[in-house]
Amino acid sequence: MKIIRSVAEAYQFRQSKSIVGLVPTMGAIHAGHLSLIRQAKHDCDIVIVTIFANPMQFSNSEDFASYPNSIDQDLDLLKKEEVDIVFCPSVSEIYPDGFTTSVVVEKFSDLFEGKSRPGHFKGVTTIVTKLLNMFLASKVYFGQKDFQQTFLIKKINVDLNINSEIIILPTIREFDGLPASSRNILLSNNERISAGVLYTALERIKYLTTFDSNSIYKEVKNCIAKEKLVELDYVKIVDPNTFCELLEVNGDTIILIAIKVGDVRLIDNLFIKKVNNRIEIDYRFERYC
Ligand code: PAF
Repeated sequence: MKIIRSVAEAYQFRQSKSIVGLVPTMGAIHAGHLSLIRQAKHDCDIVIVTIFANPMQFSNSEDFASYPNSIDQDLDLLKKEEVDIVFCPSVSEIYPDGFTTSVVVEKFSDLFEGKSRPGHFKGVTTIVTKLLNMFLASKVYFGQKDFQQTFLIKKINVDLNINSEIIILPTIREFDGLPASSRNILLSNNERISAGVLYTALERIKYLTTFDSNSIYKEVKNCIAKEKLVELDYVKIVDPNTFCELLEVNGDTIILIAIKVGDVRLIDNLFIKKVNNRIEIDYRFERYC
């Protein structure tokens, strides 16, 4: 496994005749990242993992400062996975003096997660565009947990003619259904137990007998309200193809949810649809790509 730190070294892969797969991360490698890396190893000739905690996507400096950093452990894990290249640039390598350009997906970046975290998606779409430009990867891998992020990355890929293949893999869950996330290790023991309600709330939707957005919202809100350490930020019922909010469930629907457990922000989502007058939950996202 080779570790590279400069953009000049990254450019070497642009000429590659091999299938180059990119797995962008901010480090604190977890089971979700490993599933992306394993799929990339299966699909590609060269797998590049990037580790860069991108300051531009954090709206407040405290959140950035507390973001987990476990670089030595990460490198050990990536070596075991036989990753070919790890790109770990410094902040000044990515954003040198004089850097002023950013990438914003109009209309969709300020919704939902973007409303709660102003500027977050501008940071995400800017860094992902930069990484895709640097490596010109054939395929790039993301997890479904960050559904709005994947929607925006698919937009930049088309709108800016990047033409990489965007591969979105199902969310990997821990024992109680909580999605694997770098932020989970920031939870105290009690907070970790309470955080399990994120999945419980989503699962409860399948027992509903009315399919309007108000019923879903009420069910999730009541379930989350039982956990004193958990605060609901939003629940949204959305068409996964257009990203418009829906008033009721009929065809393809995604429920997006965000909570705060103490200082830790967690998100999750669930695909549902109405089949024979009941709600069927469906975690497999691939069919929507
Ligand atoms: O999902 C993440 O970890 C980040 O948003 C990403 C895609 C690596 C960009 O910094």
